[in-house]
Amino acid sequence: MKTVVITGGNDGIGRGLALTRLERGDKVVVIGRSEEKGKGLLAAAEERGAGDRAFFIAADLSLVAENRRVLDEIKASFPVVDALVLCARFFRSDRFQTADGYENTFALEYLSRYLLSHGLTETLEKSEAPVIVNVAGPGIQKPGIRWQDLQSERGYNGVGAQMQAGTANDLLGVAYAAEHTGRTRYVLINPGSTATSIAGQYDAMTKAHVDALKRMGKPVAQAVAPIDAVIDAPPVEPLSAYVEGERIRVDHPALFDKDAAARLATVTEELLAR
Ligand SMILES: NC(=O)c1ccc[n+]([C@@H]2O[C@H](COP(=O)([O-])OP(=O)(O)OC[C@H]3O[C@@H](n4cnc5c(N)ncnc54)[C@H](OP(=O)(O)O)[C@@H]3O)[C@@H](O)[C@H]2O)c1
Repeated sequence: MKTVVITGGNDGIGRGLALTRLERGDKVVVIGRSEEKGKGLLAAAEERGAGDRAFFIAADLSLVAENRRVLDEIKASFPVVDALVLCARFFRSDRFQTADGYENTFALEYLSRYLLSHGLTETLEKSEAPVIVNVAGPGIQKPGIRWQDLQSERGYNGVGAQMQAGTANDLLGVAYAAEHTGRTRYVLINPGSTATSIAGQYDAMTKAHVDALKRMGKPVAQAVAPIDAVIDAPPVEPLSAYVEGERIRVDHPALFDKDAAARLATVTEELLAR
């Protein structure tokens, strides 16, 4: 029986994975904001006879202190974690600044993943085959990091913020694999367009696009399968990446830039030390 921690497990791919792993006999810890959706997930677990193996932690992962509280709660309750799956996301057409002073997409979709990946490593290392699965957008040529404007204070747009978070997660994988030489494998997964809740605050034009995506995206089960597979059998290499189930190379200097990865890790530590 594995212990699988899933952020954003209240909806979409994270929820699909949570129910799949519960049906498989695992312990699953879901993290999301909505208590109501969390109760729904626990009820779905109960219906599957897995109520005693399903756990929900309510937290706003866009806040640094909430990530630290979640880490403390997980470490206090689960001596070993086999898989950490990072799925929490929230699109914003309008720039939103968190109480910590970070742009929301940066905070939720990158900083939280940085904190949880590094913060849970000791607990993951107690597993025989530990893996972190960062579900984001590897394999797509994206704009680089806006080093002079990391918090998108100038000329914010929602898609640009998502793209920067995607790049930051690719670099997080590169830096994590270079820093941690233990057993934990880092896997970047791009599920491709999938019909999920695609949670967000949208302007009219973006909403029309998202509605079309919800109609035309692949079923959640298809996006879940490759994540499920790497939890069962993590790759041998410290870092790997997949696009819609196909493994891609991680030595492309433009997509997985080692210097930029090291620079982002340093900048992130400086931000967190403020
Ligand atoms: N769907 C696609 O087409 C697609 C394509 C490429 C990549 N991906 C990636 O796949 C992953 C899963 O995407 P999805 O489409 O399945 O997601 P989704 O259906 O939009 O669900 C996102 C989840 O994030 C949670 N969340 C939002 N804000 C949060 C916060 N501040 N703190 C904690 N949790 C928060 C939401 O739960 P609450 O409402 O309870 O907070 C929700 O359960 C994401 O990383 C996404 O970038 C998806």
